[in-house]
Amino acid sequence: YYFLGSNRSLEGKRVLITSGPTREYLDPIRYLTNSSSGLMGCSLAAAARARGASVMLIGGPMSVRIPSGVDYLPIISTQDLEKATLEQFDKADICIMNAAVADYRPSIPSPAKIKKQGKNELVLNLTQNPDILSELGRRKVSQLLVGFCAEDRDIVSEARRKLRQKDCDVMVANHILPGESGFEVNNNKAWVLDKNGVTLDFPLMDKMDLAETIIDHLVVLLSCLK
Ligand code: CTP
Ligand code: CA
Repeated sequence: YYFLGSNRSLEGKRVLITSGPTREYLDPIRYLTNSSSGLMGCSLAAAARARGASVMLIGGPMSVRIPSGVDYLPIISTQDLEKATLEQFDKADICIMNAAVADYRPSIPSPAKIKKQGKNELVLNLTQNPDILSELGRRKVSQLLVGFCAEDRDIVSEARRKLRQKDCDVMVANHILPGESGFEVNNNKAWVLDKNGVTLDFPLMDKMDLAETIIDHLVVLLSCLK
């Protein structure tokens, strides 16, 4: 359940949110992915919905419930995510790229199940996936573009670099601390950076509380950055 306060600060606004992992198949039954549950993205979607926004959630295979009242487009691979996100982007007032995108995919996925006989070592060739957020940065007109990054070191400087390189308006940086913050836990420690150089430092919070805090802050930034 998503227990949310409500105000109507996003009434009439369209919010596009990507969430969860992407999955890259090596053969028909095996894939590369990461441990994103989708909890942060779904919490953001619920918080935006509770503030009156019309929400489109595009998500890879997630292990949490999709919040009610949001439109949901399921995807599997990074290329699926790219196509769906580019299709929805023009309509959005705010776009939050929270998906944990796989950076690489198998260069030549096997159409048939890979067999182990005769192969003591298996070498996979991987190709870098397109950077969807950078593409959105190039295409944006009046959208407030928000990236997310999860880092285990140099968190704020890496977030600042990505904000600039991908031409975002806002970058949320999460601290990955196994068992405490980030993936596979209910809590997140985050910093919110904007393109004017302001950095907010939030304490370790429950992901649903953090989602509400971030959405309320984006409402403020929507009026002062745009
Ligand atoms: N992202 C994206 N497309 C990719 C990779 C990342 O749109 N192929 C987006 C993520 O959804 C996120 C932001 O870019 O909003 C930052 O992702 P992150 O993985 O931290 O950045 P990378 O540029 O992939 O750098 P790194 O080498 O640290 O993984
Ligand atoms: Ca990455």
